Amino acid sequence: MSQQDPIKQCQDLLKQIEQETNIKAEDLRIKYLGKSGLFKNVSAMIKDVPNDQKKLFGQTLNQLKNKIEEKLVSLENSKQDQEKIDLTLPGKKDKVGHLHPISQAIEEISQIFEKIGFNRVRYPEVDFDYYVFEALNMPKNHPARDEWETFFVDTKPDYKLGKMVLTTHTSNGQVREMERLKSKPPIRMINVARTYRRQSDATHTQMFHQFEGLVVDKGINIQNLKGTLDYFAESFYGPGTKSRIRPFHFKFTEPSFEVDFSCHICGGTGKRDDQSGENCRFCKSGWHEVGGAGMVHPNVLKAGGIDPDVYTGFAFGWGVERTYTLKKGLNIDDIRLFYSGNLEFLEQF
Ligand code: PHE
Repeated sequence: MSQQDPIKQCQDLLKQIEQETNIKAEDLRIKYLGKSGLFKNVSAMIKDVPNDQKKLFGQTLNQLKNKIEEKLVSLENSKQDQEKIDLTLPGKKDKVGHLHPISQAIEEISQIFEKIGFNRVRYPEVDFDYYVFEALNMPKNHPARDEWETFFVDTKPDYKLGKMVLTTHTSNGQVREMERLKSKPPIRMINVARTYRRQSDATHTQMFHQFEGLVVDKGINIQNLKGTLDYFAESFYGPGTKSRIRPFHFKFTEPSFEVDFSCHICGGTGKRDDQSGENCRFCKSGWHEVGGAGMVHPNVLKAGGIDPDVYTGFAFGWGVERTYTLKKGLNIDDIRLFYSGNLEFLEQF
């Protein structure tokens, strides 16, 4: 027998474990049951135990193991090991995320139009030349197409619908919506989607969003368009905001307009309110140009299978980002910030 009698050592440990009081359950587990813990050490001594005592040694080891486990359970349940809860501490707030500001703007814009009976739809953001240009009264090689700085997709053209492009505007939804409704007005569509143009500066990003309104029915006229624009101006920018339409040219509307909203900083006067006689810093003229509109061109109605002698319609469309940055209190002079992934900027919304 070695000088250190293994059975004696086992018995000593049994006593020792009784006295373990000032220790955490996890520390006790490591001390006794860990890889080089006391239990492992003592069990390894089996090779030094004479055969006739092996049985007794085994029993004592078992006893020790049970004792350790008992102790562990009791420590885990003891107060010392439980986290103390101070009910007077202020609560921890969960970090809650929110929608991207442009998603918030899209929601708000959609709801404003849904309230007056528009139907929110979404059409492809990579579409055929036919829907983006040709059906909109812009035949192949027409110079008007140059206004849209188009990204073309390198695929085999469809023999009827032509090349694929990244949609330069949401107007591709116009004829698609007429087709979806089997050329049967009334149509009241609001199409919100991503659009793409070859451009990038403080007020333009290559990817941006547009919303497109289209109304087709019997007897639709410019007053209906103007009323809708006024309604949107007041709903989105607040009471007192006015809309203005100026003559313009688009191939797919006739007559066509550019749409302005009155400036909320100077109330549409174009002057600072400090009697200095100087121009308003935000708008310079009292108005902000936002986008285009007009009465749907007869050729576009025809492309959608609708008889222009029976039905008329209006359409409008412009950028979500620009519309949003003109909102009261937002002082965003670079719309690229929206897509910079800068959380310090985004968390403010
Ligand atoms: N699609 C035009 C643009 O992107 C805007 C527009 C929409 C004009 C509908 C008239 C009617 O500039």
